[in-house]
Amino acid sequence: MKLCMIGTGYVGLVSGVCFADIGNQVVCVDKDKTKIDKLNFGVSPIYEPGLDELIKKNFLAKRLSFTTNMNKAISKSDIIFICVGTPTRKGSIKVDLSFVNKCTKEIFKYSKRKKIIVTKSTVPVGTGDEIESRKIKSTNSKNS
Ligand SMILES: NC(=O)c1ccc[n+]([C@@H]2O[C@H](COP(=O)([O-])OP(=O)(O)OC[C@H]3O[C@@H](n4cnc5c(N)ncnc54)[C@H](O)[C@@H]3O)[C@@H](O)[C@H]2O)c1
Repeated sequence: MKLCMIGTGYVGLVSGVCFADIGNQVVCVDKDKTKIDKLNFGVSPIYEPGLDELIKKNFLAKRLSFTTNMNKAISKSDIIFICVGTPTRKGSIKVDLSFVNKCTKEIFKYSKRKKIIVTKSTVPVGTGDEIESRKIKSTNSKNS
């Protein structure tokens, strides 16, 4: 399968590397260029036992790639995993979904065919339905 991990932090990077190691084609995309540059040099921005070795192995096998190019990463993939941060909103106990919302918009913008979207980020119940209804609304407004 062709998979795209949006957000190359603890969740996106570790999951993406493991998916590549079991034979999937994985592209990890992040807005943080420094992080992506490091990964393209084979340097992991985080420590997890065995992760460096698996990054090198799967990168050299061409099953794993790293980019800041959202369009390329999304359009090539069948399944998109949202793995961006969901911090607590300043001065509130509510969750800040702005990173999730931003990358959802980009998924819709760059998807020219059907994709499966998986939300790995920690989000409130109902967020998946909310994402789906945004897609339906954007399709309806294009058709009208
Ligand atoms: N760390 C854990 O063990 C863990 C476990 C379960 C769930 N989660 C959840 O998973 C999510 C991610 O956690 P994490 O620890 O990997 O976070 P992280 O901060 O390590 O990584 C998030 C990455 O997303 C990138 N990002 C943000 N917005 C982006 C955008 N629009 N486009 C591309 N990249 C973008 C950031 O640059 C960052 O590298 C959170 O919702 C967290 O609650 C984390």
